[in-house]
Amino acid sequence: MDEVRPLLELTGATVRFGADAALSRVDFRLFPGEVHSLMGENGAGKSTLIKAITGALRLDEGTLTLAGDRVEFADPHAAQRAGISTVYQEVELLPNMTVAENICLGREPRRGGVISTRLMNARAAALLADLGLEVDPASLLGGHSVAVQQLVAIARAISADLRVLVLDEPTSSLDLDEVAELFRIIRELKSRGVAILFVSHFLDQVYEICDRVTVLRDGALVGEYLTHELLRIDLVQKMLGRGVAEVRARGRAVDDAPAGEAVLRARGVSSARGIQDADLDLGEGEVLGVAGLLGSGRTSLARALTGVTRLESGVIRIEDADVHLDSPRRAMSLGVVYSSEDRRRDGIVAELSVLDNITLALQSEQGMLRQIPAARRRDLAASWVEALDIRPPDLDRPAGTLSGGNQQKVLLARLLALSPRVLVLDEPTRGIDVGAKVEIQNLVAELAENGMSVVFISAELEEVLRVGDRVAVVRDGRITDTVAAADLTADSLLALVAQPGEDEG
Ligand SMILES: Nc1ncnc2c1ncn2[C@@H]1O[C@H](COP(=O)(O)OP(=O)(O)OP(=O)(O)O)[C@@H](O)[C@H]1O
Ligand SMILES: [Mg+2]
Repeated sequence: MDEVRPLLELTGATVRFGADAALSRVDFRLFPGEVHSLMGENGAGKSTLIKAITGALRLDEGTLTLAGDRVEFADPHAAQRAGISTVYQEVELLPNMTVAENICLGREPRRGGVISTRLMNARAAALLADLGLEVDPASLLGGHSVAVQQLVAIARAISADLRVLVLDEPTSSLDLDEVAELFRIIRELKSRGVAILFVSHFLDQVYEICDRVTVLRDGALVGEYLTHELLRIDLVQKMLGRGVAEVRARGRAVDDAPAGEAVLRARGVSSARGIQDADLDLGEGEVLGVAGLLGSGRTSLARALTGVTRLESGVIRIEDADVHLDSPRRAMSLGVVYSSEDRRRDGIVAELSVLDNITLALQSEQGMLRQIPAARRRDLAASWVEALDIRPPDLDRPAGTLSGGNQQKVLLARLLALSPRVLVLDEPTRGIDVGAKVEIQNLVAELAENGMSVVFISAELEEVLRVGDRVAVVRDGRITDTVAAADLTADSLLALVAQPGEDEG
């Protein structure tokens, strides 16, 4: 393969933000017809490298060549004209426009100078069909699941003259079937000679789809490897510069009733077009894992338990008192807190500091008239930055300048700072690197040992099994099983999660 010339090559690439180098003297090469993975911890410089080759950032030093010619892209449009398309970590699409409008955005087909909706729909339909996606081009994008939106973002990135496709964590919100769908598309493009750069924190996916891996650590190149010659354990060691933290052993429940007093009880809980007739008991200091496919009702359950959506029927009891959770604020005042999977909506206030972002919810809960003393706020924020290993550990830095994974940790810190009694976490480790993932799982275990009750939702079944004392399975909007984690294996849990609905077939 090395006989072939790289299609794209970075040499001595350096990108600085103020005094810090996010990327220093990195060499990187991408060959036609290969799938290449960029790996590294949160903040290692992956997104920065991508921005440097896609015209979103200027190199402070070093060169970029495309098919042997030196290039400098003024902006992402210039890169796109040269055949380099990107799907960024945070998808930037417009939910109030149609699928076709999103796909053709910025290069709409015109007739007599006027944008032609008919041509646009036809072009989008052809593209979607080419990729084997069944989506109506005239439908509103916002009406589709996050996963479909993600696939539309990928369709948008594909054009006839595509030479390089860059995917920055494209699978973080996809479930197994959709990942398979995406991989089918990637293989198809690869066979057409497109070079694909793929960033993911899921090692399984990297090993399944990638030919080659480049590892970054602290903005520097660790090395470039052929995937099949690199053991997983070595890959992790190269990314982290150390092994993964030990997984904490926990004394866990062995039967399917909660240990300890039930802190939160749900009986017959239903929400509109969401969860139906759910019964659930959450013990003090218990972690209840929730497993289910995308769209099964996991998030609806979380939202119903935390006052985000109103109940149509059923009751929620907290420590033996019936409660009426008619808003997240009311739930919060009772110690029930929800960490949403949708980081953009509930997200980071980019221009506020890390300190302000972490203490935002706590301050608002206390009321703006009772300002938390500055020293106390700083101590609190510092302790969570340390506990979650947020990097860089700089409280005064605007949160928007942190890497994607570190922003995710700041959001988690914001909720933990509330010291809730019941914490409902929806996909808390999505976008978090392999090392930090274990640390967050351990933190959840530790919080539970200190009496906090946690509902832990994740698409990764192994994670649900590792963290949960018991696991509730959600299917077709219902809790179908609740089983002690000790009685489950990844395979038996998958069988429960993926069983076809009783009303089908
Ligand atoms: N606009 C910015 N201003 C200042 N520093 C920045 C800016 N953007 C990124 N950085 C810093 O550059 C470093 C690399 O960040 P980058 O986003 O490339 O990491 P990443 O490898 O993509 O991480 P993740 O896995 O969390 O997405 C980080 O230390 C980050 O804080
Ligand atoms: Mg990133």
